[in-house]
Amino acid sequence: MGAHLVTGAGSGIGAVVAERLAERGEDLWLLARDARRGAELRERFPSARTLVGDLADPAKLSWAFGHQQLPVELDSVLHIAGVVQLGEIGELPVKAWQEQLNVNLVAPAELTRLLLPSLRLARGHVIFVNSGAGLNAHATWGAYAASKFGLRALADSLRQEEHGHGIRVTTVYPGRTATAMQVKVHQQEGKEYDPGRWIAPESVATALLTALDLPRDAEITEITVRPGH
Ligand SMILES: NC(=O)c1ccc[n+]([C@@H]2O[C@H](COP(=O)([O-])OP(=O)(O)OC[C@H]3O[C@@H](n4cnc5c(N)ncnc54)[C@H](OP(=O)(O)O)[C@@H]3O)[C@@H](O)[C@H]2O)c1
Repeated sequence: MGAHLVTGAGSGIGAVVAERLAERGEDLWLLARDARRGAELRERFPSARTLVGDLADPAKLSWAFGHQQLPVELDSVLHIAGVVQLGEIGELPVKAWQEQLNVNLVAPAELTRLLLPSLRLARGHVIFVNSGAGLNAHATWGAYAASKFGLRALADSLRQEEHGHGIRVTTVYPGRTATAMQVKVHQQEGKEYDPGRWIAPESVATALLTALDLPRDAEITEITVRPGH
């Protein structure tokens, strides 16, 4: 049993991971973007505690956490929250670049920095949910892919830097997964959405928890999850 901080627990992959950890009786800290979402998360996960911080505004996270009780020790930080907005480079406004870079890259870096003392105490595990778009960038995916390419760099640097503190770092690269995010992607692509074609969020959660549960003699550094047949 351990203490885990999860971002993105309100929806999709993060919700399944939080449900699985709650079922096991783990100590959960869930990050919510605002107080209203925090209250909703406490209703859904009655045994969990919430922290409020808007990942779209990473410069304010330090101040926000200064006014809340943080976990003393953390066995894991699970960075699962994310946003996407498709668009060609020729069209995409700065605001769309900034939101994706902030939520998907800068906020995970700042959150990790703020929580490292708690992670070091427990020799904890940092898991980043990346994307196939973090390995290959296609037309209209530029800003999202840039944020996820950056997230890969963050994970790889962190792994080297924190190895001496016993911290393990895993990146999970899921392909298209049947969540609210994928509904939005289909709307933006102008395609009909059929959830049965894509990975179930439960399967991504299983891959993530396999890395988390691996005994300490080993570290899964990267997992790629593709839709099956
Ligand atoms: N779905 C896919 O096809 C797919 C494929 C590859 C990788 N991924 C990655 O998987 C991760 C989870 O995605 P998902 O598909 O489960 O998406 P989702 O269902 O849309 O959930 C996204 C989560 O991120 C949270 N979030 C977004 N902006 C936030 C902010 N400013 N502050 C705090 N929380 C914020 C949302 O909070 P609210 O509930 O408050 O909105 C929500 O809980 C993301 O990193 C995504 O990039 C998804």
